[in-house]
Amino acid sequence: MQYDLKFFLKDCIRKMVDFSTTAQSRGLAAPPLQKPYPPGAALLALPRPEKWTGIGDVSVRQAIAARVSHRAFETTALTLDELAFLLWATQGLRKPPTPAVAYRTVPSAGCRHALETYLAVFRVKDLSPGLYRYLPLEHALVEAGRPDDLEGRVRQAVFDQRFAAKAAATFFWTTIPERMEWRYAEASYKVIALDAGHVCQNLYLACQAIGAGTCAIAAYDQEAADALLGVDGEVEFTIYIAPVGKV
Ligand SMILES: Cc1cc2nc3c(=O)[nH]c(=O)nc-3n(C[C@H](O)[C@H](O)[C@H](O)COP(=O)(O)O)c2cc1C
Repeated sequence: MQYDLKFFLKDCIRKMVDFSTTAQSRGLAAPPLQKPYPPGAALLALPRPEKWTGIGDVSVRQAIAARVSHRAFETTALTLDELAFLLWATQGLRKPPTPAVAYRTVPSAGCRHALETYLAVFRVKDLSPGLYRYLPLEHALVEAGRPDDLEGRVRQAVFDQRFAAKAAATFFWTTIPERMEWRYAEASYKVIALDAGHVCQNLYLACQAIGAGTCAIAAYDQEAADALLGVDGEVEFTIYIAPVGKV
């Protein structure tokens, strides 16, 4: 066996059954279901599913059969309905939340959902270019900074994979491990990565339904991506990236 990874993953499985050390088992309060946003921040409400128009009805079978990674995009903008659909498909709620739990359109170990979604928006109708964060509980966006030269910063964050800055919008998923560690301790690292895979696959399939495409990106510069999103790289850090555009 060449790398430690197999040992690490197997160790995660063993730890999965040892709940005795977790914050939950010690009676500590659970972290918030979603990263809080600054008090008074202006929220941009997204169109809700019942309001969407022009979202293509593509069968699951067709979407799965046609899924492919896209690294070239048209210059056509996404509509706000389409963006709302993609965000809902990847992290949206599937029923009203309770204070303790928010079920989403994707599965997550223990329903902990330790991911946050950031968007570098380049071409979305009725939305100024810039950096945003999706708030699943409100189904809204909040501004996450207005970096100069967003295109350049995105390119730098993905080791100059240029298509990421030619997209209509590039999804950046971060994790806040504490949300998962509260229940799963060290087993969290495995299940957070598994969770991210479900999210990105839903993005691929949802793109198929709106004539768009995406490509998973794991080859990124950790420090540059974290700096772009304004996260500290410890409490919260980037784990996956996916540019989206019309194809
Ligand atoms: C975890 C993961 C990481 C990936 N990272 C990159 C990447 O950094 N850059 C890229 O161009 N493609 C990346 N890809 C896309 C793969 O290259 C692609 O899925 C593979 O070549 C198969 O092609 P297909 O998705 O069209 O079936 C990644 C895919 C996965 C699942």
